[in-house]
Amino acid sequence: MFTKVFAHRGASGYAPENTLPSFKRAYEMEADGIETDVHLTKDHVPVLIHDEHVRRTTNGKGWIKDLTMNELKTLDAGSWFSPEFAGTTMLTLEEFFTWIQHKPLRINLELKNNKIDYPHLEAKVYEVIEQFQLQDRIILSTFNPHSLQRLQKWFPHVERALLTSKRNKYLIQYAKELNVQALHIKYNLLAPQLVEKSHRENIAVRVFTVNRTNQMLHCLKQKCDGFFTDFPAHAVKVRKIYQ
Ligand code: G3P
Ligand code: MG
Repeated sequence: MFTKVFAHRGASGYAPENTLPSFKRAYEMEADGIETDVHLTKDHVPVLIHDEHVRRTTNGKGWIKDLTMNELKTLDAGSWFSPEFAGTTMLTLEEFFTWIQHKPLRINLELKNNKIDYPHLEAKVYEVIEQFQLQDRIILSTFNPHSLQRLQKWFPHVERALLTSKRNKYLIQYAKELNVQALHIKYNLLAPQLVEKSHRENIAVRVFTVNRTNQMLHCLKQKCDGFFTDFPAHAVKVRKIYQ
């Protein structure tokens, strides 16, 4: 099937985002891949969480950059979503890879370094990817163009994607200058010409965040390479009917 379904922060419509329960559900729901967000702790451990701060998705407070992994492990990252998930902890990238390594899933690591440009994030992510040898299944993405330049040096053979939510007439040219193999665009930027032109330049197009049936159908019709959804079970069903 051409258009791949990526579970956005795991199956985050059904379980707390970026945690093992949401990743497990994504796998059970037959998503093709999982997207997750990576920050760096005070003691330089790559950890999976969306925000720079723990406030929204845990019972704690403080910035990831100011907390150690041991401190983060004491937090409850599930109760905010539902009492059913009480006791769920945040995952390190290493723990995520341990879980996913033998499952047939693609992995999109979004480096969350557009607000805080963590020094050494690329290097630390590199160490973990080397350890697990998952290079062929990974797509690295970020909104930060400087990070994409660094990623090219660390990972010349790993797929890299520019994330963007801004309209830009010269987007494909920009992607080429950054030497990325993919564009991860916000849904409202999706247009047939953009997809066609990107494909002519051998640049893949994936779309976030696609939760409504009609948006999913647009992505399928326009032959996007993939889309990110909080509801992978629904997306897989829609794709089966469409294709
Ligand atoms: O990687 C696609 C998407 O996750 C980007 O936005 O804020 O949901 O991480 P956000
Ligand atoms: Mg993300």
